[in-house]
Amino acid sequence: MYKKAVILVSGTGSNMESIIKACKESVLHLKIERVFSNRSNPPAFEKATKYKIPTEFLSSKLDRLEERLSEYIHKNQIDLIILAGFMRILSPNFTARFKRMIVNIHPALLPAFPGLDAQRRAWDTGVAKTGVTVHFVDEGVDTGEIILQREFIIDRTKSFEFFKNELLKLEHRTYIEALQSLDKK
Ligand code: GAR
Repeated sequence: MYKKAVILVSGTGSNMESIIKACKESVLHLKIERVFSNRSNPPAFEKATKYKIPTEFLSSKLDRLEERLSEYIHKNQIDLIILAGFMRILSPNFTARFKRMIVNIHPALLPAFPGLDAQRRAWDTGVAKTGVTVHFVDEGVDTGEIILQREFIIDRTKSFEFFKNELLKLEHRTYIEALQSLDKK
């Protein structure tokens, strides 16, 4: 059973916000202790502050970032590290050290379209369906054990922007559902 969590972000933080809201509304039984970033002031920080969650810029350098994060996790007995639009690849050392403690959301049905710009690549390839995946993070890029997947049928009469936005809404719902399933374990 997970209790104390941190969220790692790099950008907008819409997944982060939906998780924070779910915690506030007791839909999720997690305490979000802090929001960290590899960027100095991402838009996500403003959102976290609105919910009175402390924010911290780690470093843009991976070794320093992981050192500080490890220190915080140990000191504060963090159980779960939630990646929500965090755009750095963590080192194999770090992921091995926190095995089954780091979760990520990816905007595709893994193992299809791993890596960056998954929505654009799914769209351009012309696939009829894609989806979202919540998974544990291991040393590979989007290769860890899958926790939950949800499919999304692409409506090609609509624009790419519409598709991306609808998929993001599905991400929000799927992340909550996946974290709930961990919460029960
Ligand atoms: C989301 O679509 C998330 O799946 C993606 O970045 C976006 C962040 O949006 N992450 C990845 O592609 C990771 N490989 P958000 O900041 O609004 O949650």
